[in-house]
Amino acid sequence: MSNTVLVTGGAGYIGSHAVLALLQNGKNVVVLDNLSNSLRAALDHVENICGKRPVFVEGDIRDSALLDQVFSEHAIEAVFHFAGLKAVGESVREPEKYYDNNVAGTLTLLKTMNQHGVFNFVFSSSATVYGCPSEMPISEETKVERPTNPYGRTKLIIEDMLRDFSDADERWNIALLRYFNPIGAHESGLLGEHPQGIPNNLLPYISQVAIGTLKELKVFGNDHPTPDGTGIRDYIHVVDLVEGHLKALDFICEHKGLHTWNLGTGTGYSVIEIIDSFEQVTGQNIPYSFTERRAGDVAESWSNPAKAKVEMNWVASRTLEDMIRDTWRWQSNYPAGYASTPTPTH
Ligand code: NAD
Ligand code: UD1
Repeated sequence: MSNTVLVTGGAGYIGSHAVLALLQNGKNVVVLDNLSNSLRAALDHVENICGKRPVFVEGDIRDSALLDQVFSEHAIEAVFHFAGLKAVGESVREPEKYYDNNVAGTLTLLKTMNQHGVFNFVFSSSATVYGCPSEMPISEETKVERPTNPYGRTKLIIEDMLRDFSDADERWNIALLRYFNPIGAHESGLLGEHPQGIPNNLLPYISQVAIGTLKELKVFGNDHPTPDGTGIRDYIHVVDLVEGHLKALDFICEHKGLHTWNLGTGTGYSVIEIIDSFEQVTGQNIPYSFTERRAGDVAESWSNPAKAKVEMNWVASRTLEDMIRDTWRWQSNYPAGYASTPTPTH
């Protein structure tokens, strides 16, 4: 539908995969990213895969003059909004940074869109808006609860803000995409996650243990009320996730209003199951030990993704083995992410 898409945060992990998918689907893409958690090199890798390059604007979503310029210079018809800060621990220590970047940044973006008559908006929300979920699996009908940390609360505030905008002005077409746990990498091995510093999330951490950058995995708790005592999550391949964005864009262009979808596989795996699979798929040994539960962690979180299937004909098709194999291919090709000397081995 929409031919030119602005991708905020398009140099980041999920954003760069979305940029690739959009270009491969014949869209024109403008990326706006302040590179606070990414490198421009990600877009070189996108070009290496598909032979096309997005327009790149280095800048901040809170800079309304810059946004005005971007919307004036490009015939933008839709926005994929990935830009934001996402480190849970940091959000507890520095909440102001999170409310400013995520909430104020999104508001600035929405105001500029309004001024330029652009109303198609796809937002990266998170299963974190379900807080400590009252039921499992989690459907879109499951009660949204107060998230356990400031990062999560910025997502819920933005969702509420978008709902209010949609209620007040029927020109807005909005997709709230609640991601479960995105992992994996593009199957070319050229595009993947580039965490800065010590990773907070499970798969990046395990990958760095596997290549020897980190010594051992600390498993946060073996006393959760789950079959093996470790936390259960719904891991979803990043390429399936971005396919969900393309379907969501088509859907909102044809069905007005605000729509909410869970993007998950519908299957949960425990930390121990992930370690076992990682060892099996990669042949690497993952030393680990148990430690305290991490503050704010829920025991289990997995989706009922039926609504996305029924309404947009989207299902996550890639298996856990695919996710781990692709993560490992990327990690072993680029041990230091985009800062690595490019010496692909696969
Ligand atoms: P990421 O950090 O790799 O990508 C975010 C990008 O946004 C980065 O390139 C960063 O430089 C850019 N950015 C941050 N603040 C900006 C600003 N003010 N102006 C312009 N650019 C800015 O993160 P990701 O994993 O790709 O996540 C993308 C989005 O999805 C985020 O909004 C995140 O909260 C959300 N999300 C991610 C996960 C996950 O597990 N990765 C889960 C749920 C939701
Ligand atoms: C975390 C965030 C969530 C955010 C998501 C994506 C918290 C409380 N939640 O989700 O808000 O949207 O990342 O950025 O931080 N684990 C270990 N050892 C590790 C790392 C993780 O045992 O070193 C366990 C966790 O306890 C959990 C599972 O692995 O059971 C997955 O953890 P993680 O990848 O951090 O994702 P979430 O906790 O689901």
